[in-house]
Amino acid sequence: MIAQNSPIVNITDAEFEKIVNFVYRTYGIDLRKKRQLIEGRLSQTIKTKGLTSFEQYFNMLLNDKSGTEMNLFLNKITTNHSYFGRENEHFEFLQNVALPDLEKRRQRELRIWSAGCSAGQEAYNIAMTIDQYFGPRKSQWDTRILATDISTEVLEKAKKGVYSADNLTDLPPIWRSKYFKSQPDGSYQISEAMRKEVIFKVFNLMDQIVYKKPFDIIFCRNVMIYFDAETTNKLVKRFYDATSEGGYLFIGHSESIDKEYTGYTYVRPSTYQKITRK
Ligand SMILES: C[S@@+](CC[C@H](N)C(=O)[O-])C[C@H]1O[C@@H](n2cnc3c(N)ncnc32)[C@H](O)[C@@H]1O
Repeated sequence: MIAQNSPIVNITDAEFEKIVNFVYRTYGIDLRKKRQLIEGRLSQTIKTKGLTSFEQYFNMLLNDKSGTEMNLFLNKITTNHSYFGRENEHFEFLQNVALPDLEKRRQRELRIWSAGCSAGQEAYNIAMTIDQYFGPRKSQWDTRILATDISTEVLEKAKKGVYSADNLTDLPPIWRSKYFKSQPDGSYQISEAMRKEVIFKVFNLMDQIVYKKPFDIIFCRNVMIYFDAETTNKLVKRFYDATSEGGYLFIGHSESIDKEYTGYTYVRPSTYQKITRK
């Protein structure tokens, strides 16, 4: 329903419930408290398509077999804020504890996953940390990082790897010159060497995790804040099953894991390890 002259298309209770249930069932994202976000982010799309209600829009979304509309919808409803050096303690721990530990246990290969990677900052940050840790030994190791998200828009940005200067302020200045190329417009592009270290793919975290070898390091930070407890517990269980013995899980500082539902051992705030053999 469009109020006269309003840029907002008002969503009815029934329409809101339908969209909330669909997004929860399919993507795990809990939008129950996000009524304004839905109206605000989708009104323009509805108008541009010549539609007049959320009901019409939702029907169009479900009937679009190409998947294009669903991608655009996901790009709108996901929150993709991220930056380099976010929750830097994780990268310090990675460099000082986890990588030395894993280097002793593994042979020339580490399996790493940035789950819910947004525009790639987290994955490239891991790649830079690995480069710092291994130095010249890096050439003997395959440490390519799988980075996944449901938003195709952020994945395109991630592949280009171009960031504004303020997205890099929390990185050591020397990293900026070593791992980025400054652009004429003041932005920075990630170096070719780092780009080769990350493989970006679309993946919905509600789907079954299929892997050839289990992961030694999983980063899933600031993603589960959008999920409810039940969805989070099930996802952490799937992460656990997909983690190698001695492997690590990093979650966001504001997130938590319910001890009752996980086999991971607590290492330090927002850092867990899979230890089954003592
Ligand atoms: C706030 S960003 C976090 C980015 C990065 N991990 C960080 O900590 O800065 C959350 C990301 O999770 C993604 N996401 C949300 N639900 C998802 C799902 N079901 N499957 C995969 N990615 C999802 C969003 O598209 C978004 O890019």
